[in-house]
Amino acid sequence: MNAIEVRQLTRRFGDFTAVDDLSFSVGRGEIFGFLGSNGAGKSTTIRMLCGLLRPSSGTAVVGGVDVGADPEGVKRRIGYMSQRFSLYEALTVDQNITFFGGVYGLGRERLEARRAFVLEMAGLRGREKTLTRTLSAGWRQRLALGCAILHEPPIVFLDEPTGGVDPLSRRRFWLLIDQLADEGITILVTTHYLDEAEHCHRIAVIDAGRLAAMGTVAELKQLLAGRPIVEVRAGEPVAAMRALEAMPEVEKTSMFGTTVHAVLRAAGAAPGHLVGRLQEAGVAVSSCEVVEPSLEDVFLDLVERSAS
Ligand SMILES: Nc1ncnc2c1ncn2[C@@H]1O[C@H](COP(=O)(O)OP(=O)(O)OP(=O)(O)O)[C@@H](O)[C@H]1O
Ligand SMILES: [Mg+2]
Repeated sequence: MNAIEVRQLTRRFGDFTAVDDLSFSVGRGEIFGFLGSNGAGKSTTIRMLCGLLRPSSGTAVVGGVDVGADPEGVKRRIGYMSQRFSLYEALTVDQNITFFGGVYGLGRERLEARRAFVLEMAGLRGREKTLTRTLSAGWRQRLALGCAILHEPPIVFLDEPTGGVDPLSRRRFWLLIDQLADEGITILVTTHYLDEAEHCHRIAVIDAGRLAAMGTVAELKQLLAGRPIVEVRAGEPVAAMRALEAMPEVEKTSMFGTTVHAVLRAAGAAPGHLVGRLQEAGVAVSSCEVVEPSLEDVFLDLVERSAS
């Protein structure tokens, strides 16, 4: 049986459809990523899967429990880290753990065992009496994860867990996620960092409430098969972008830092031709080559295509 089974899940707010006919399933021990622009409907979907928000239509079965029929039953079987960390800032590390232990109804012995686990996992030993609001974002994030899994849920929902956290802490956090998945825990996670999305076993790209694409990173990259990406470095990237966009074989361009990626309409156009014409247009090109598509190329392609 799948850990999460979603069928035609829909949520409307008045006339506005925030989540539109979503269907997908997530296997046990899978790290499943949700990618989408701001307002795509990721948090709304997660809140429905956690039994916090009623679906307008469709069904979701999480850990064998139908979220519409038994939202309380779902809450007991899952861990949830909301987009705004759900810790109490005015409490100490220890007090937060005790508080969440109470919420999940842990007995004293189990709470103490789990407290030791969380302090270890989060690297917070020795900081038990520290006020949560004075912890750095990385510690707070690991404590929030620990509190969300105090009751050892088999399924965990993480809504943008790494927002505002430095790269080193993000790495450390993803090591924890990988460990949880290795233990058979199912993780559904949203992120805006595409490098993080590469950790996910499978990814769903959500755009305006709908499923735009789903698959492994390799499968998603296949969506650009037959449309090569040419990476151009030039003295003036904006001028290069304009010149590329005027060329008939270029479908579209996007800026990647100081380089420009051009998606070609078809394979075959040699980058050398592009260089010649860029130079004719007065653009000083330092390099121009076909590159493997990144997840960001795929994401921009999917999201822009549906917006136009
Ligand atoms: N309670 C609500 N009432 C009305 N509209 C809502 C409500 N909750 C969410 N929305 C709208 O639904 C859409 C989806 O919101 P949601 O928070 O799910 O997006 P998201 O993908 O999580 O975005 P972000 O990346 O910014 O967190 C947005 O347009 C939002 O304004
Ligand atoms: Mg959100």
